[in-house]
Formats: sequence, structure tokens, C-alpha cells
Amino acid sequence: MQAPEIARPLEARQAGPLKGAAEVPGDKSISHRALVLGALAVGRTKIVGLLEADDILMTAAAMRNLGAGVTKEEPGTWHVHGVGVGGLAEPGDVLDFGNSGTGARLVTGAIATHPIAAVITGDASLRKRPMRRVVEPLARFGAIFSGRKGDLLPLAIAGARRPMAIECAVTVPSAQVKSALLLAALNAPGRSLVVQDIPTRDHTERMLKAFGADIIIEQTKSGEAIGILGEAELHPTEVYVPRDPSSAAFPLAAALLVPGSEITLPALLLNPRRTGILETLREMGADITIVNRRDSGGEEIGDLVVRSSALKAVDVPPERAPSMVDEYPILAVVAAFAEGRTVMRGLGELRLKESDRLSGIARGLAAIGATVEELPDGLIIDGRGGDGVRGGARIATHMDHRMAMSFLIAGLAARQPVSIDDATMIRTSFPGFARVMRGLGARIGPPAR
Ligand code: S3P
Repeated sequence: MQAPEIARPLEARQAGPLKGAAEVPGDKSISHRALVLGALAVGRTKIVGLLEADDILMTAAAMRNLGAGVTKEEPGTWHVHGVGVGGLAEPGDVLDFGNSGTGARLVTGAIATHPIAAVITGDASLRKRPMRRVVEPLARFGAIFSGRKGDLLPLAIAGARRPMAIECAVTVPSAQVKSALLLAALNAPGRSLVVQDIPTRDHTERMLKAFGADIIIEQTKSGEAIGILGEAELHPTEVYVPRDPSSAAFPLAAALLVPGSEITLPALLLNPRRTGILETLREMGADITIVNRRDSGGEEIGDLVVRSSALKAVDVPPERAPSMVDEYPILAVVAAFAEGRTVMRGLGELRLKESDRLSGIARGLAAIGATVEELPDGLIIDGRGGDGVRGGARIATHMDHRMAMSFLIAGLAARQPVSIDDATMIRTSFPGFARVMRGLGARIGPPAR
């Protein structure tokens, strides 16, 4: 296990208008899945535009430890030599997923139906996050789990020796859980059925189709039922990873808040299950134009043009949460600068992310002079509109990349600079964040004191 690094504070302060193109890196969800499915295919998968961030590098290392060949050919272009469904090898060491819940949960799913033993762990943030949501349903395939305090990492997995297909209703609105089950089902003889009442991001289903899996998706009254045939033979393919809308949300928000700004965000993933933030910001009055919509390897993408806008408050419908689940921290910052009362509810899941985001946002916004009330499952934010937000505080980020980036964006628009206690975690999802923001004209650097 690596020694903890020294915290790296960072500060953001007001500057002139932001201008130019923000080239954000590849989508994190699609990058994880490309590595895992590439490892489960027979032969060589090429991935173009892979996100080279810590979370993804941990998944790449895990797939290597499970027997796949994973190599970087040039920046963004990677090859995975897959071992085939059923072919994962017992790892020679503990699999460490760092900060990544997605990596840990997806790979646990793949291991669960292979006759191998593995132990998985992660950093101090990941070791607090619940695994019960995947462990309980995956046990039905025949896998046995033993975790710290029941379901926490480190977690020992004894994969099923004779896995069997299952029918399972996913009760949490989580794409990670759904995906873990689909990946496990790949090596269970027969057809498994995964039913989810609340639709969540569907990258696993799309990519499984592209790799040739026998997968049938039926719409139900409130959600969908996904049937997938086990003992699958996956065929390698080329995966093009579009740019990550969850990373784009940070420069996008900055451009809306800093007066006189106009930026473009080229080639962004526009999967409808990921675009709730665009819908919400537009309801607030954001000037966002989408041009050049096109298909890229089975996913919709497009270019965004964003201009600074006077924003008004909004009631975010709770049922929109799965399509913008990672964007609430930055939306909360935006709401603090908008005119009027923004209400967001149905967000209990936010307490189980890289940190308890509801509490972290509430404390952070209060520290920079915003008016905010924390609810058990949401936030009420009274925005200041034209008066702006004071700023002038150092924010605790609790090992959470999105908290770190959100409060730096607040610092670009607040009257006084805002600093964060530690920027290290930003590299888990958006390694070039400060460079991209400075390229637009933002002032982000080491704190003055
Ligand atoms: C993800 C699903 C979401 C999201 C995470 C990525 C995925 O988590 O918050 O950043 O790639 O499947 P949940 O499944 O817990 O909602």
C-alpha cells in the first residue's frame, strides 16, 4: 500500500472572461467498461481516447493482474488482449482500486462468476463505501464474500465454481450495481434477467452489444428488464471514448458564472442518460448551444458553445438524479450564484459517493458566504443573483475530486479567492483540470498564503 501523499492546497480567484476551447478528457464510465469488456473478449481490443486518470489506471492494473494484456500504445490509445469470459486468472496480489467505486464494483461483478479467489481494497475514501449493494445480489450467482465489518473493503471474494443464471431486481438507482450483475451474468450458464425500475446510465449495455453479447432490453412500466445470455463469447472491437460530460460540467459552469465568457466544449458525450445537468442549467437560463450532433461508436456526441448567463433558481425534479448524479456539487455552486431558491431532493445516494457530498457542499457553501440548508436527502440554496458570493475560505474536500473542482470553480466567480485543502484527488478523473482551466484564462494556482 502506498504512503499517503502530502496534501496539495490550490486556490482560484476572479479573472477576466473565459475564452477558448476546453478539451476535457475521455469519459470515465466508458473507459472503465472498455478495459473490463476488453479483458473479457477473446483477442485484441483497441481503445481510443481512454481517460488516463488514476481511477482508470487502477482498473487497467486490476485487469492485468487478472491475466489480460493491457498496454498503452500512445497517449489515449490502448490495447487490451482479452482472455475471454471464463478466462480470468487468479490474481497474485491484492487488487487496489484507489478512489474508484466504479472500478471496485464492476470488477467484483466480473470476478464473482470466475472460479478464482481475489481480495480487493482501495484508499481511505473507498474503504468507507458500501459494497453490500453488489455483494448481496452477486452472492446469488454462487460467489462468497467476506468483508471488513461485513461488506466494506478490504473484501475477499471466492468466485462461484458452478455459477448459475439469476433473476434480480436492482433496488438502488445505480449503474454500478446493474453493471456488476451484467458482467457476472456473462459467465453464468443460461439467461439472467436484471430489472431496474429507475433507468441509469446504459454504457455497459451499449458496449456489451458492440462486443457481440446476446442482450435483450425491454422497457417495463417504470424502468427496464435486461436479459443477458451467459457463457458469452465476446468479440474484440474498437472503442472510441467520447469526452466526459461530468468533467465538462466544471469549465461549463465556470463559463456561465464568469461575466463575458464564451467557451466551446468539443466532442462531448451526449448520451441522454448523462445530460440531466444540461437540461437543468438550461431551465436556469443558461446559454448553451449544442452543434454538430453526431454518432461516435454507438454513443451520441456533439460540440457545446457556452456563454455567461444571468441564472435563476430551479426546482430539480428528484427523478432526474440518475442522469446527473455526479453533477450536484457543481450545480450547487452554480445555484449559489443564481437568483432565488434552488431546491434539490431525492439525493440520499450523494452521501455514499467519494465523500458525503450533501454535508460537504452544505459546509463549503456556508463557508464562502452562501445561504444553504442541508436536508436528509437534498439541499436548499438561496442564491444571491447579481450580489454574488463572498468566497474567502479554505474548503475541506474529503478525498473527493468533484468537491475539489466545484469549489475551485466557485473561487473563479466569488468576490474573494477560494482555496481547497487538497487538489491531489482531481487526478482520479480529470488530470489536466488546472491546465485546461488556465488555458481558458482562469486564475488557479498555489494559495497566496
Ligand atoms: C457510475 C455510476 C454512478 C456514478 C459514478 C460512475 C458508473 O454511480 O456516480 O461516478 O460508471 O457506472 P452509482 O452507480 O453509484 O450511481
